[in-house]
Amino acid sequence: MFQGSGLKGMILPVILLFLATLQEASSHGDNPLAGIAIHEARFALEESAFIKASPGVLGAQGGNPEWVTLSFTSANPSNDDWIGVFSPANFSAAICDSEGSMAGAPFLCTAPIKFQYANYSSPRYKDTGKGSLRLLLINQRSDFSFALFSGGLSKPKLVAVSNKVTFANPNAPLYPRLAQGKTWNEMTVTWTSGYGISSAEPFIEWGQKGDVRVRSPAGTLTIDRSSMCGPPARTVGWRDPGFIHTSFLKELWPNTVYTYKLGHKLFNGTYIWSPEYQFKASPYPGQDSVQRVVIFGDMGKDEPDGSNVYNNYQHGALNTTKQLIDDLKNIDIVFHIGDIVYANGYISQWDQFTAQVAPITSKVPYMVASGNHERDWPGSGSFYGTKDSGGECGVMAETMFYVPAENRAKFWYSTDYGMFRFCVADTEHDWREGTEQYEFIERCFASADRRKQPWLIFIAHRVLGYSSASWYGAQGSFEEPMGRESLQKLWQKYKVDIAFYGHVHNYERTCPIYQNICLDKEKHNYKGPFNGTIHVVAGGGGSGLADFTPLNTTWSLFKDHDYGFTKLTAFDHSNLLFEYKKSSDGKVYDSFTINRDYRDILACSVDNCSPTTLAS
Ligand SMILES: [Fe+2]
Repeated sequence: MFQGSGLKGMILPVILLFLATLQEASSHGDNPLAGIAIHEARFALEESAFIKASPGVLGAQGGNPEWVTLSFTSANPSNDDWIGVFSPANFSAAICDSEGSMAGAPFLCTAPIKFQYANYSSPRYKDTGKGSLRLLLINQRSDFSFALFSGGLSKPKLVAVSNKVTFANPNAPLYPRLAQGKTWNEMTVTWTSGYGISSAEPFIEWGQKGDVRVRSPAGTLTIDRSSMCGPPARTVGWRDPGFIHTSFLKELWPNTVYTYKLGHKLFNGTYIWSPEYQFKASPYPGQDSVQRVVIFGDMGKDEPDGSNVYNNYQHGALNTTKQLIDDLKNIDIVFHIGDIVYANGYISQWDQFTAQVAPITSKVPYMVASGNHERDWPGSGSFYGTKDSGGECGVMAETMFYVPAENRAKFWYSTDYGMFRFCVADTEHDWREGTEQYEFIERCFASADRRKQPWLIFIAHRVLGYSSASWYGAQGSFEEPMGRESLQKLWQKYKVDIAFYGHVHNYERTCPIYQNICLDKEKHNYKGPFNGTIHVVAGGGGSGLADFTPLNTTWSLFKDHDYGFTKLTAFDHSNLLFEYKKSSDGKVYDSFTINRDYRDILACSVDNCSPTTLAS
C-alpha cells in the first residue's frame, strides 16, 4: 500500500517530467508554415475578388530584397482571411506527391513561401472587404504570385490569385557564404544561383586588394526531392533549392584582405557577376594577433515584414543578426552551432535564411554545426529518432553550408583559427566511447599543440556538459542523457578550456568543472593553471526561449533567460576574454578573463597528470 506522501512523491516527478516534455516541445516549435493545411485547400474563386501585386519586375537596379505592394478585395471578408506568397507563381501545377496522408487528390500540393493575414495592415478589412499589404521578397530564382484565401489556415479556400511578379534576373548568383577550408590558408565560398552546369561555368574572381585577380572554379551541387527523407520536405514543403556552388580559394596570406566576386560564364560567352565582397584571410595557426570569435546556437530566421507570424516564434533572430552586422568590424569568425534555420522541411526557408545572414557570411567565415532541426529523422541513422528535421535528414545543411568535415554527412570537424583550435562535434550522431566520432574528438584534442594554440574549444549542439534547462533539471541529469559520461575524461585529459552548446534556448555559464565538482572558486578572473572546463550554453540566438529549472546547483555561475550570443577575444597566447551579449542591445551582461602562460597549461590537475619517472 502506498503512503500518502510516498504517492505524492511519485506523482510530483511524473508531473514535472510531463511539464518538462511540454516545455521542450514548445521551445523547439514548428515552422509557422506547418500551421497551414495546404492539402485541404479548395478552389473557390470569386468573380468579385481580386488581388493585385506591383511592381511586376523587381530588382531592375540590382536591389534584393525588394518590397511588393498588394491590393485586394473580397466580397465575403473575414478576419482569418490570409494571403499566401507562392513561388514558382504557377503553384497549382505542382505535382502532388502521394506520400501525404490526405484522402483523394488535393488541389494544392505546395506550401507558400510566406504568408500574412489580410487584415495585418488594413484593420477595417473585415468591414470594407478592401485591403493592402507590403511584403518583402528575396530573389529565390522563380517568379511569385499572391493568393487570397478565406477559411483560415485550417480550411483554406482560394478566392483570388494575383498577377505574376519576377526578379529581373531570377538566376543571379546570391548569398555568398564563407567558411574555413580544410587547411588554415584556404577559404571556401559557397553561393546559390539558378545556373546549372549545363548553362554556365561557376567561378570566383579574387585577389588581394589592389593586386592581380585570379579565377578559381567552383563545384556545383543540387538537391532533388528524392534526397529528402520524408514529409514535409518531400511533399508540401519541397521547393527546388537551385544550384549550390563552392569554390576553394587556396594559399591565402595570413590576415590579409582579399576581394572577390561570384561569376558565371554562360555558354554564349556572357558573364554574370555578383557585387564585389571582401574578407580577411585566417591567421596562421599560432599567430599572435587579436582574434575575435562569436559563438551562438538556435538562431533561425524571422521576416522583417512581419509575415509568417514569426513574431511569436523566433523573436530574437533578427536582433542577433543585426547586432552581428553592426559589430562586424570587430568579429573575425562566427560559429552557429546547430538549429540553423528551423526550416523543418520547408525548403524555401533556407534561401530566406541565407539572405538574412548574407551581410555576415559574405565577410567572415560562418561555421555551422548540425542540430536536431537539421538532421533528426526516424530510421535515417540519426542518433535520435525524432522528426525535428521535417524530413530534411541533414541534406539541406550539408549542402547549403560548407564545413571542413571528412564526410559532410557526418558533421564533426576541427578547424584552426590562429591561437584557437575548435573541435566541433555532431550530437545527432553517437559520440560515446568506441564510436568513430569519439575517436575524432580525441584526435582533435590530442593534436592541438598548446604552445601555439593555447585556446582549446569544444563545440556541440545538444548540451553534453551542464545545463539547468527545466527538462534536464526534471530528469536530474542537467545534461543530455549520456552527454558527458564518455567525454568528460577527454575534456579533462586534454585540458579543454571552454565547451559551448546550443539546443537550450537561454544562456548559462559554469565554473571550471570536472565530474560535477567546481575546481576553482574564482568567477571572473582566472589566473594561472586552469583546472577544469568551463561549460557555456549559448542557445539564445533567436528561437523561443527555454526556462530554467528552479533547482540551484553549485556549478552554475550565471543564467540569463534572454536572447544573446557569446564572444571570445584572444589578445595573445596568455590572455583571453569571454563575453556574453544580449541580442536586444549588444551590451555585455556577463564576462570572464583567463590569464595564464604555457607552463600553466602543462601543469597537471585532477586526472590529467602525465606519467613521470624517478629515473634520471
Ligand atoms: Fe536543438
